[in-house]
Amino acid sequence: MSRQRVILDTDPGVDDAAAIFMALGAPEIDLLGITVVAGNVPLGAGLENACRLVALAGRRDVPVLAGVERPLLRDQVYGRYAAIGAFSERLVGADSVTPASEHAVSFIVRQARAAARAGRPLTLCAIGPLSNIAMALRLHPEVAEGIARVVCMGGAFTALGHRTPWAEFNIYADPHAAQIVFGAGVPLVLFPLDVTMQALFTPADVVRIGATGGAPGRALAALMDEHDRSDMARYGRPGGPLHDPMTIAWLLEPGLFAGRPATVGVQVGGATSGHTFADFNDDSPRATVMTDVDEPGYIALVTDRIAALEEETQ
Ligand code: RIB
Ligand code: CA
Repeated sequence: MSRQRVILDTDPGVDDAAAIFMALGAPEIDLLGITVVAGNVPLGAGLENACRLVALAGRRDVPVLAGVERPLLRDQVYGRYAAIGAFSERLVGADSVTPASEHAVSFIVRQARAAARAGRPLTLCAIGPLSNIAMALRLHPEVAEGIARVVCMGGAFTALGHRTPWAEFNIYADPHAAQIVFGAGVPLVLFPLDVTMQALFTPADVVRIGATGGAPGRALAALMDEHDRSDMARYGRPGGPLHDPMTIAWLLEPGLFAGRPATVGVQVGGATSGHTFADFNDDSPRATVMTDVDEPGYIALVTDRIAALEEETQ
């Protein structure tokens, strides 16, 4: 089996932490690097979080790189949990790795060019605002040839948004970047809130993640506990979503998901900036919009993969 070559672009973030752990633990994935973008928290805090998650998982071989500090054009917005800043030592420990000196955008460009030369395009997993990836594609459009697909957590089509009633956070935080990436001609696999909110981790699931024995599972469970996402009024049942790991789960077990071809766009100005829309009847669709997930299968995959990472690093 040839391993999938992946760059994970992230703004950690609690559910980013789950996605990072899954990617670090997956033998099917050759994780080339973790590129950090401002989003949930300011860039410095996100970078520190990423470095400590990598140290906790015992994967010091994977470089962590700082990227773009602010959205391309709009005023900066952070996530609802921005106040937490860097993850507390109590939850994820104090051990850390040193970030690489190369800028995340230049890393993405360099890796994509090398992938194009080798005829082995790589996968970009984008689980934060799309500022880093947009910069790479706008400065050096030819790097699209080295990118097999962008697998992105972002947008909301039939679901209402959550950061605002009309927009999902990653797209809302940098809609111009999303517009560039959506229009770059790179195949796009999109995981909007419509699908990520179908799988809810209950308090019992969180206990199971924490009980698997190792440090990453315990840290993730503690983070999920501290930043509880449950919302009975919205979901009508107990539990909360983990949005970002769906991108990694799809790379590992695509059969857990169903999607529809579409061409997608984003509103970049006015009162509804960040709103995403999809044309499911376009004759030349450029994206796949995920619509359904096997909820128990997804939750089991996340739990098992985080447990497997722990066994490797114990
Ligand atoms: O809308 C969900 C996204 O924004 C995720 O990437 C998560 O990290 C969040 O804040
Ligand atoms: Ca994120």
